[in-house]
Amino acid sequence: MRKKMIALLSAATLSMALVACGSSKTASTDDSKKDGGSASEIVVGFSQVGAESDWRTANTESMKSTFTEANGYKLIFDDAQQKQENQITAIRNFIQQEVDYIVLAPVTETGWDTVLKEAKDAGIPVIIVDRMIDVSDDSLYTAWVGSDFRAEGDKAVEWMNTKFADKDLNIVHIQGTIGSSAQIGRTEGLEAGVDAHANWNIVAQQTGEFTQAKGQEVMESVLKQNSDIDVVYCENDNEAFGAIDAIEAAGKKCGEDGITVISFDATKAGLTETLSGKISYDVECNPLHGPRVQNIIETLEKGETPDKLAYVEEEAFDAATFTQEELDKRAY
Ligand code: AHR
Repeated sequence: MRKKMIALLSAATLSMALVACGSSKTASTDDSKKDGGSASEIVVGFSQVGAESDWRTANTESMKSTFTEANGYKLIFDDAQQKQENQITAIRNFIQQEVDYIVLAPVTETGWDTVLKEAKDAGIPVIIVDRMIDVSDDSLYTAWVGSDFRAEGDKAVEWMNTKFADKDLNIVHIQGTIGSSAQIGRTEGLEAGVDAHANWNIVAQQTGEFTQAKGQEVMESVLKQNSDIDVVYCENDNEAFGAIDAIEAAGKKCGEDGITVISFDATKAGLTETLSGKISYDVECNPLHGPRVQNIIETLEKGETPDKLAYVEEEAFDAATFTQEELDKRAY
């Protein structure tokens, strides 16, 4: 790791080197650092939410294939299994290991102030990726890159508006992990749409925790109580797969002449169901953040300041016009 190399420099050279690196870390003469990295590589500790969805798998793959030894990095990867307490433990471990950067994909927005203050006090820059955090002091993180989840929800509602503006709609709403930015933004979008349409009703609203199993479970229990459903608004593709299985197991159809399924992520698997017509509209959420986080780190390494917030551009796909060619081009 670079701090070991720094320890060999004279005090004068050291202070110049720290300025050139834009680093606020305290110089150390202790050569027994704990991260196990080599003298020149940049050590990144990445706390990942979990492995709940196809999107998450693609995101993990993007990070792992970016932060490789060949690219000059050592990646310490931690899977939090959708639990914030595991992420807090991981961040504390990264601090102990004296990593160069902490990258956090936060499970929920709140609850980060204390541990990020510890990272700040240790002089370790924190980069937030994917979902956002809600902290009292913005200096607790250096930069964020991710999606505009409210805009994603609004896109879905705009499409519903073009299809169903004047129709009576019974909507089942399968939410993501409660308190995550992805859930908050997509839920706000739908609820604003429902508020604006007297004839749209949310008949059930429950979390599917962004997983296929939970999406199926929620949809099965809704179908037992209510057979008059027009739209299922799933907050990710995996929930949609579960909901589709439940709908079909109940002897009903998805798509044009059945229940309209709306989804988010637009993964290859999700868009395969869009091509088949079972997902009527799939709003993209781009998971390929590895190179984006690398750009932020490279900017910091040059002593420059990256953008504090960077939103990724995203599109949406309508089953009525989606083609095999477009599916073949998908990178994830
Ligand atoms: O934060 C992004 C969301 O998290 C994706 O929509 C979902 O699939 C993932 O688990």
